[in-house]
Amino acid sequence: MTSITLRRPDDLHLHLRDGESMRAVLPFTAARFARAVIMPNLRPPVTTTAHALAYRQRILDALPPQPTFEPLMTLYLTDGTDAAEVDRAKASGCIVGVKLYPAGATTHSDAGVTEMARVDGVLARMEERDLVLQVHGEVTDAEVDVFDREARFIDEVLAPLAARFPRLRIVFEHITTRAAVEFVLDARPGIAATVTPQHLLMNRNALFTGGIRPHHYCLPVLKSQSDREALLRAIASGDPRFFLGTDSAPHARSAKETPCGCAGIFSAHGAIELYAEAFESAGALARLEAFASEHGADFYRLPRNSGRITLIRTPWEVPRSYPFGSEDLVPLRAGEQIGWRLAETQ
Ligand code: NCD
Ligand code: ZN
Repeated sequence: MTSITLRRPDDLHLHLRDGESMRAVLPFTAARFARAVIMPNLRPPVTTTAHALAYRQRILDALPPQPTFEPLMTLYLTDGTDAAEVDRAKASGCIVGVKLYPAGATTHSDAGVTEMARVDGVLARMEERDLVLQVHGEVTDAEVDVFDREARFIDEVLAPLAARFPRLRIVFEHITTRAAVEFVLDARPGIAATVTPQHLLMNRNALFTGGIRPHHYCLPVLKSQSDREALLRAIASGDPRFFLGTDSAPHARSAKETPCGCAGIFSAHGAIELYAEAFESAGALARLEAFASEHGADFYRLPRNSGRITLIRTPWEVPRSYPFGSEDLVPLRAGEQIGWRLAETQ
């Protein structure tokens, strides 16, 4: 197959940042995806409906005129979030979920939740109003091995949470392990997961190939080959509980190439193309469209997009860097090839 046409996809997990940085990265996503769920981990975090609507407007103002693109907003859950905020979010019609960052789990998560019991009232209201909870699923205990933090989170936090709020719809974001795949497959209805391109295409060796590779560092960190194979089997199965969320997370080169580098991989410049590679490697290219353009929309109860994109199997070389405000950033596959190219968006 040398070309593939898909219904326009949605990115259900995206970091856009703000200001000049946002303007630098937004066109990559808008060229490919019709909608994206915009993560709220700005500084200060997007904790209220008013903040989210103002951020949404800044994104709309920064968009190129074509093709159309709709930002779907989410609120940053804190210990202090008021249940009434859930009502306002739902009433806005622009906010699809609330994001749980365990405090300290990842980039800009220090305002996150310190103890689940503190947000029970908010979760109960979300369940009632049917707002989706998006979960960064890692425990933060420094004693727990960094490669075990997702699996521990399932047992200690996610499984009990899903049981305590049986009608709350939950997206387990950027899953990385076989344990997470199995949790989703065995879970009650209303539980789904996003899968990133990096966790499908790389295992943890990619952090150390020929030396330390800060641009391959993200959270949750890359896992073992057997975990990666479990993710590939999950997406190749066509199960609707797995869908596209890039977790594209731009950081300036200077914040990555430093003694204590930030977590986050930028993939928006070639996101759908990278997923095409992953599906092709799993012998499941025919399942890409449902994963990218149907499962996420259906889970969020949004209409499927009507436009189309076409990808052709023509390798192209990724630039070594892209401008990023006053700095630059190093994209995934910098200076290397991606096997598929975006040919057209309608
Ligand atoms: C994200 C970021 O940079 O905002 N980083 C990452 O490694 N994925 C935060 C997150 O989603 O964990
Ligand atoms: Zn993220």
